[in-house]
Amino acid sequence: MTLRWTLEARDGEARAGVLRTAHGPVETPVFMPVGTAGTVKAMTADAVRSTGARLVLGNTYHLMLRPGAERVEALGGLHRMMDWHGPILTDSGGYQVMSLAALRSMDEDGVTFRSHIDGTKHRLTPERSVAIQRQLGADVTMCFDECTPFPATEAEAAKSMRLSMRWAARCREAFAPLDGHGLFGIVQGGVYPALREESVGALTGIGFEGYAVGGLAVGEGQDAMFGVLDRTVPLLPADKPRYLMGVGTPADILGAVRRGVDMFDCVIPTRSGRTGRAYTSRGVLNLRNARHADDPRPLDPACPCPACARHSRAYLHHLIRADEMLGPMLLTWHNVRYYQDLMRGLRGAICEGSFGAHAAALEAGWRAGDD
Ligand code: GUN
Ligand code: ZN
Repeated sequence: MTLRWTLEARDGEARAGVLRTAHGPVETPVFMPVGTAGTVKAMTADAVRSTGARLVLGNTYHLMLRPGAERVEALGGLHRMMDWHGPILTDSGGYQVMSLAALRSMDEDGVTFRSHIDGTKHRLTPERSVAIQRQLGADVTMCFDECTPFPATEAEAAKSMRLSMRWAARCREAFAPLDGHGLFGIVQGGVYPALREESVGALTGIGFEGYAVGGLAVGEGQDAMFGVLDRTVPLLPADKPRYLMGVGTPADILGAVRRGVDMFDCVIPTRSGRTGRAYTSRGVLNLRNARHADDPRPLDPACPCPACARHSRAYLHHLIRADEMLGPMLLTWHNVRYYQDLMRGLRGAICEGSFGAHAAALEAGWRAGDD
């Protein structure tokens, strides 16, 4: 049987469900830590699992360039290579080609580009992207698309979206069904409701195991992003998972779950951990700041992660200032744990029918700040 998602509870538009994959079940709403290059940066796979994370994201673009899809396959696939035995979702490469590669040239068939690592020439097409994602061993494969840049005129967004829809049909054709594995379509269309609607129609006409909303968090701002979700999510099939790509802050995720989104990925918890920022129930703390230098308190007394359970803010501040690699490791661990606890809390509230009160309490905590 292909990848299946089942609804367990609803509170308003917010949904709790379970995604059943070849590498085990995943409770939704879910946040996927980003493991771009075959590692969630600065964490062992065991540490990632200990935070409660059950699904991680890998990237076609990075892995095809280094170490190469054939090499990952020969090493037993991405699960075995990175010692992550839970499910993996891979992004298709379209977005990363546009944001990272040099000298891109796009045509109807695909994209030719030069590697940002060594300048070598490569090509991605819908068929090649799907084949690479299978070589990596992805449980969830994403359609090869173009993430429409922002801003774009309606004509530009329409042209880009229609190309992505033709590519989505080719991805569906190229994807060989496999037990517990699935292919997700990606809705595009920029900030234009009519284009988003057309895109949903094209994708649901083809039929996918899940539907992502792409082309957001690219500079349009939270209000515009929520506006697109308000107009788009209700059009998606109610019995399939919905994934908002590349989002976001805890407040972005809360607002999207409220609007019926089930899945998220973002570099924020890992990237900001490496630059000394910690996400907590009282907002964001910058551990580089001198005000933490003598503070014996834990980062978050309620958090069981090693950064909080065993260390002071003063020590974390010292590690970050001294450029010790344990600093980014501990703060990444904390942030990934915070995001997992956030998702678990949202899911629990949906199941209990207390989402509104839970959301208000979270927002009050973030607003109150830390001192
Ligand atoms: N990551 C964030 N946004 C996007 C998108 O629009 N498409 C893809 N493939 N990945 C993304
Ligand atoms: Zn912590």
